Amino acid sequence: MLPMHRSVNGDRLQHTLEQLAYYSDTPAPAMTRVLFSPVDMAARRYIRDLCEAVEMQIRMDAVGNLFARWEGVAPDLAAIAIGSHIDAIPYSGQFDGTVGVLGAIEAIRTLQGTGERPLRSIELLLFTAEEPTRFGIGCLGSRALAGVLSPAELRLLSDETGEDFDTVRLAAGMTGELEDVRLPEDYYHAFIELHIEQGPILEREGIPIGVVTAIAAPATLHLTVEGEGGHAGTVLMPDRKDALTAAAAMVLAVEQIAATNPSPDAVATVGRLQVFPGAVNSIPSSVQLDVDVRDIQGPNRDAILDEIRRRVHEIAEERGVKLEAVLVNCDPPATCDPRLIHVIEQAAEELRLPTQPMVSRAYHDALFMATLCPTAMVFIPSHGGISHRPDEYTSLESIVQGVEVLVGALKRLAW
Ligand code: GLV
Ligand code: MN
Ligand code: MN
Repeated sequence: MLPMHRSVNGDRLQHTLEQLAYYSDTPAPAMTRVLFSPVDMAARRYIRDLCEAVEMQIRMDAVGNLFARWEGVAPDLAAIAIGSHIDAIPYSGQFDGTVGVLGAIEAIRTLQGTGERPLRSIELLLFTAEEPTRFGIGCLGSRALAGVLSPAELRLLSDETGEDFDTVRLAAGMTGELEDVRLPEDYYHAFIELHIEQGPILEREGIPIGVVTAIAAPATLHLTVEGEGGHAGTVLMPDRKDALTAAAAMVLAVEQIAATNPSPDAVATVGRLQVFPGAVNSIPSSVQLDVDVRDIQGPNRDAILDEIRRRVHEIAEERGVKLEAVLVNCDPPATCDPRLIHVIEQAAEELRLPTQPMVSRAYHDALFMATLCPTAMVFIPSHGGISHRPDEYTSLESIVQGVEVLVGALKRLAW
């Protein structure tokens, strides 16, 4: 293990965070960086340039996961992977994911500054589409790496304009075969993701470092409601089969089911409605909605999903509309590796940074990396617990502390 010293360069890290924030489709501080959009491509180029500048070996797989490797002196040993994502949902903040990518680059630069090469290679991973914005499914890149999303399933995905994933990724310049994306199980020795907490606990408790023990189970249900369109003036109320009013009843039912579930960790959200044809004087004939359901306990999340499915079908019947419900994903929760948790705790202790074990209620690429190799996460405080909003904020001091812990963990694992 390399001896400890604090040399993470906060100014350098701050500069890269500010530079990356320029690549957005909405004015700062609101971030919008959707998979393979021009700003996403430019942001990827920026990350690539940073990695090339410190002589990391870069490769990109067929879905656009970027791998940047600082080769160790024993390249045959499985590498230590670190990283996160840089895509950002519409009107979100500057810190979700980006801290884990730029923090990982800063950790590698810091370690390079010691003049000592690691035994194991250290590989930065920038995952494709952690956010579900474009193709409706979160953690697209890490799912594919873990083999949870097969090439056939990838080919079935399409975006809002109807373009399929394969066409979109080829147009964005991704090359190679989807069949080659999945990684072998012994590819990595460990994976650690540094991320903002996105919740209020660390700030409230005054604890700088959260050590994630488990990641909650997310599921997404895609509903298509088909009613009957018509003229907003001439179709009288008793004769209507309005797809939007049926969908509205479903949205309220989703809220009520989660809110009355005995688990305090049960949450359900409808964050997106697409109304067709979308004219003020036209009765909506069709509505699509996505339901996001989560709980820390997989079986309880499944029970909530079952209840939602039962209730939305009842509503469709009551209102005389057709309903199609497609389960997009239904993932088990992940448990972090106890040995890695201990390594992170030791690294924090050496820096005299108090830690708190915690469950991640948000999902992360670590959810799928945990199926490939021992995995853990380092959390740093989110101001006010705010995330997925432009006013998401984590102080530079907190980010530097998170990177220092990452550096300490890498020293223990890679040397
Ligand atoms: C990740 O962005 C999530 O929605 O949990
Ligand atoms: Mn997010
Ligand atoms: Mn994230």
